[in-house]
Amino acid sequence: MKEYKIAVIGGDGTGPEVVRQGLKVLGAASSKFSFKCNTVNYDLGAERFLRSGEVLPDSVLEELRGFNSIYLGAIGDPRVKPGILEKGLLLRIRFEFDQYINLRPVVLYDKKYCPLKDKSEEDVDFTVVRENTEGLYCGAGRFLRKDTQEEVAVQESINSYKGVERCVRFAFEYARKRNKKKCVTLCGKTNVLTYAFDLWERVFYKVAQEYPDIKAEYAHVDATCMWMVKNPEWFDVIVTDNMFGDIITDLGAMVQGGMGIAAGGNINPQGTSMFEPIGGSAPKYTGKNVINPLAAICALGMMLSYMGEEKAAAAVEDSVKKVVRKKLHSLSAGKMGYSTQEVGDLVVKHL
Ligand code: IPM
Ligand code: MN
Repeated sequence: MKEYKIAVIGGDGTGPEVVRQGLKVLGAASSKFSFKCNTVNYDLGAERFLRSGEVLPDSVLEELRGFNSIYLGAIGDPRVKPGILEKGLLLRIRFEFDQYINLRPVVLYDKKYCPLKDKSEEDVDFTVVRENTEGLYCGAGRFLRKDTQEEVAVQESINSYKGVERCVRFAFEYARKRNKKKCVTLCGKTNVLTYAFDLWERVFYKVAQEYPDIKAEYAHVDATCMWMVKNPEWFDVIVTDNMFGDIITDLGAMVQGGMGIAAGGNINPQGTSMFEPIGGSAPKYTGKNVINPLAAICALGMMLSYMGEEKAAAAVEDSVKKVVRKKLHSLSAGKMGYSTQEVGDLVVKHL
């Protein structure tokens, strides 16, 4: 029997609640499809930071290297200054494990949840491949004359040929494997960011030559936002940099029915990857048993797929689809018609 080691970081706010439901589904899937998962919980996030000042001790980081995957709930807490946990925990894991792809599917399971007029399931089905280790997220920059009238803040976008190439290549491979519209759209801003996206564009069309079976298209990021709302059916795979990817995937989440259903994977194809619901820690819903666990359950499905348990992954997705179509009244916290726990139970039941 195949065995996997999974590190679990429930994290902050509603993170632990949604992860609990995900692990329940994992338990059911592993017995049904005959594989074994050994999970180890890690106490990381705001509570630990407030208690001990520790965000991600080096020893914990080293331990995490020994796992097949990391399953993350959410991080972020109003008691902690913005940036500390985000940079110290989430971004640190993404960078240290070189999880250079942030894969974010935008899939509509039932048209009744789509805020776009006259769009249905077949119109909203694309994936954003977000570069996950470079760009504006590197933290490169400086202040000049800080705290004076003449203050200047510089924040630099770092784009390496190698970093862009591996990301673009992943997108083309993914479009081929996905075997749907067979189209990759580069989302950039070549008309203004004439260094960064000049590099992206050159790499994109160079790599595209190796994939004659896949269409290569380009759209500026502002236009991408417009098309995502007006004609989402045009997209198959969108590849973009870290910052634009962050922004357009929140829009993508809304188009697919909201944060309650949006999942993502931080992927290093050769190493330890991390899977997470993409909504935040939703502090106001903490402990109320009202948050939608489906995004976390979908993230779990992505994790299974990445570890090679394709059948189990497909079953989880199918079950989520059924629950969303036949049971839930809404995908939003408190309006689902079921509690967090009951939604988890429904997914297990339909598996
Ligand atoms: C996301 C989040 C993070 C990001 C934050 C919490 C640092 O918004 O995963 O999209 O900007 O990448
Ligand atoms: Mn984001």
